[in-house]
Amino acid sequence: MSAEATAPGKMILFGEHSVVYRGPAILLAVDRRASVVASKRDDKRVYIDSEDLGFSGYFDNGEYTAVTGKVWRGRNMAALEVATRKVMAHLGVDGGVNLKVRSMIPIAVGLGSSAAVCVATTAAVGELFDGNLSKEKIAELSFEGEKVIHGNPSGADNSIATYGGIMRYERGVGLKRLKLDKPLPFVIGNTRKKRSTRNMVEGVKELKDRNPEVVDPIIYTMAGLSQTGLDALLRRDTGKLGDLMNINHGLLTSIGVSTQELDDLVYAARREGALGAKLTGAGGGGCMIALAEEEHLGMVEKGIRAARGYSMRVNLTDEGVTTRRL
Ligand code: PMV
Repeated sequence: MSAEATAPGKMILFGEHSVVYRGPAILLAVDRRASVVASKRDDKRVYIDSEDLGFSGYFDNGEYTAVTGKVWRGRNMAALEVATRKVMAHLGVDGGVNLKVRSMIPIAVGLGSSAAVCVATTAAVGELFDGNLSKEKIAELSFEGEKVIHGNPSGADNSIATYGGIMRYERGVGLKRLKLDKPLPFVIGNTRKKRSTRNMVEGVKELKDRNPEVVDPIIYTMAGLSQTGLDALLRRDTGKLGDLMNINHGLLTSIGVSTQELDDLVYAARREGALGAKLTGAGGGGCMIALAEEEHLGMVEKGIRAARGYSMRVNLTDEGVTTRRL
């Protein structure tokens, strides 16, 4: 017997970096998903197999042993082991599982792949042991896994992977879930350059500490822009949304988180008719996003590819985690 769960990736529309200090971040679930198939084992191992990520191996009492691929790749999956154990402890079962991981979400470029895989693991293991886990419980247990890798994550990534839709997250205020009644297509441009969110956040902090009189007002402006942007999104005012994305990219560039590669993709998208384009997530590499009218999407994608980016068209999705028996 086995069970499968899937969960969506995400992009940040507004509020990256400013959310560390003030104001909301607006996250959107996208229709690129991770899938995890869980099945029972006779021993107590958590065996993880991912062809996409190029490794397989198992955790035994928290210790990772590689079967194929690099050891560190498997260790990166410690969150899945922890989430699996948390689900089993919650359900009072003692055993082991095989996890087959597949993902359509590129890794380490700010699109929420680790949260999606962790949420899908939590839900698949829950389903495997007849846990009937609520979405709330899935978000809570997967968060335990995410904490292992990210130290002190906001909880926004695993919430959006669990519930889908639109999420407004603000420190000290919490999460608010929202829905969009019609799809809205975006193009994601991936520089394919991996980066560390932690280093980028640290770099902004150092710049801000050296120049508070200049950087504080920029953060303040980004925080306000993020709320205005959410209102425009909910009204589906795509013209205004595009303007705000362009302005936001300029502000993010001013605090040093864009790169030549990101700028190239952003300008290529605008040249090909995008209403707006900006980097998304921590910057320093990773991805940018572009909003365009339906008839311009193809040209925007072409422009991004010509600028040496990998492009993918995505739609926003209200579909959060799904589970099924196989
Ligand atoms: O690129 P991501 O998805 O890791 O997003 C980082 C968002 C930041 O605001 C830069 C950091 C944070 O913790 O909010």
